[in-house]
Amino acid sequence: MADKRPIGLFDSGVGGLSVLLEIAGLLPQENFVFLADQLHNPYGAKTKKELEDLTGRITDFLISRKIKALVIACNTATCYAIDYLRLNYDLPIIGVVPAVKPAVKITKTGKIAIMSTPATAKSSYLDELVRGFAKGRQCLKLGCAGLEEAVETWDRRESAILLDKYTARIEKFGSDVVVLGCTHFPFLKKDIKKRVGDKVKVIDSGQAIARRVKYILKKKDAFSTQKNNDLFFTTGDQKEFSRVASVLLGTDISAERVEI
Ligand code: DGL
Repeated sequence: MADKRPIGLFDSGVGGLSVLLEIAGLLPQENFVFLADQLHNPYGAKTKKELEDLTGRITDFLISRKIKALVIACNTATCYAIDYLRLNYDLPIIGVVPAVKPAVKITKTGKIAIMSTPATAKSSYLDELVRGFAKGRQCLKLGCAGLEEAVETWDRRESAILLDKYTARIEKFGSDVVVLGCTHFPFLKKDIKKRVGDKVKVIDSGQAIARRVKYILKKKDAFSTQKNNDLFFTTGDQKEFSRVASVLLGTDISAERVEI
């Protein structure tokens, strides 16, 4: 049976829009409710307990908007809160984690660089991913302080300065695969590729998440057959979110402010 209820997504900011774009690309009939928790950005500065509390409140809000599935469009929130959310909520929950497994399949040098927020870089979740899937490979866990914030404000000057610094470290390390382990970073993919060169593959989790969502909806026979307007909410400044999100999505959107 068709199910035109929206898919809920959230992130600490605009980064999760990179995941929304991938899902919308694969499933153009689906509807979305997106919440950017910009009041509490960056999530990397929060404790596990705080993230469980915040993501629980966001999930309550999205459920009140009648979503059929939840996508945690944030690596940091997934690493720290997905177990908590799956334990406490009865709906399909899809998380985003750094694409370590695909990177292992691609690498020839056995050296993988993982760009993420500092919090994801030091999380035990990433440790386990690396231990589980990248045994015998060398992984550079690059906590890219400031980069998520530069995307958040779409500060092209700042992101260029930071990317010069971080890609120099990747070059020194000698990896042939770079994993974008923060959903903000796919918006910088072209800039990163330009710096690391053609021989280095730059990958993220967006397409895999979109395929996972498709798989789950198919299993539940819950595809939408009717495209409505997508809804965007922020806990921060709705004008600023709308401005940056419109640039990143390539279409004008207007967000509403919400308290969670
Ligand atoms: N986009 C989020 C991620 O994928 C950023 C998290 C943060 O606010 O620290 O990790």
